[in-house]
Amino acid sequence: MNPVITHKETSLKGKHLLTLADWTSEEIEQILNYAIQLKKEKQPKQLLAGKTLGMIFEKSSTRTRVSFEVGMLQLGGHALHLSSRDIQMGRGESIADTAKVLSRYLDGIMIRTFQHEIVEELAAHADIPVINGLTDDYHPCQVLADLMTILEYKKSFAGQKLAYVGDGNNMAHSLMIGSAKVGLNCTIITPENYEPKQEIVLKAKEIAQKTGAEIVVTHDLKDGICNADAVYTDVWASMGWEDEANERISAFQDYQVNQEVLALAKPDYIFMHCLPAHRGEEVTAEVIDGPNSVVFDEAENRLHVQKALMASVM
Ligand code: CP
Ligand code: NVA
Repeated sequence: MNPVITHKETSLKGKHLLTLADWTSEEIEQILNYAIQLKKEKQPKQLLAGKTLGMIFEKSSTRTRVSFEVGMLQLGGHALHLSSRDIQMGRGESIADTAKVLSRYLDGIMIRTFQHEIVEELAAHADIPVINGLTDDYHPCQVLADLMTILEYKKSFAGQKLAYVGDGNNMAHSLMIGSAKVGLNCTIITPENYEPKQEIVLKAKEIAQKTGAEIVVTHDLKDGICNADAVYTDVWASMGWEDEANERISAFQDYQVNQEVLALAKPDYIFMHCLPAHRGEEVTAEVIDGPNSVVFDEAENRLHVQKALMASVM
């Protein structure tokens, strides 16, 4: 896929982004192309003048919070940070009532929470677009930024291989779905008992049938990483799983991304991580701070891709 719009653009106004599975390959391609265009245009455009995004956070965030807030500002709009500790939802006000009330004030809602069902319920009762800023199961905005980064470095998705090493978590799920949508081959490598959810693997494989992407799930690190164009990892204990941190350090110790294992990837591989990272655990400092690492481009691309997303759906 070249960074050129090759199909008729569709209006995405009013559309929720809960998972990339709900978006067509063309809609995803449209957002990526738009983001690349916005990144080139240094001059911010007032595309969302007078509009307001509410950002509900039930988990911590650096990148998501700052990139959405700055993105709204650059588009001429405004963003409100709504910590669940401060709003009534945190004291038991129903998700449905929260959605209906916020729809009367805002033009869009971004939410970071635990169960994916919370985001689905919010969207079901909101009259404005709802954007998933991370749940236990998915992180679609991160994957849009990741796909944009792969496109920038590798110029296309077809024939490229992304190898994800680590926990079968929200990142693994969204990377599988996103890769399947754009025709990128994706291998998920996890220790035993930390595989991605089976229904999401089946969903990704079903989507991949249409695009020709190959989706593989394996425990074999060496085989899985072999000839990868992009190697991705994430923390071993995600937000909400901190209690298992020690247990996970021993379960994942053979799955560290280091120079030794990267010798099996293509010589021009890129190293990717959604961040925050734990140097010395899932990745060595030598790798994440090394010449093949694109982690700060990925972080920057969160801003561009979410501006494209907000300008399209709001
Ligand atoms: N990658 C990501 O979503 O980072 P934050 O948790 O800092 O938002
Ligand atoms: N898997 C990580 C991603 C953080 C952006 C988590 O959920 O904590």
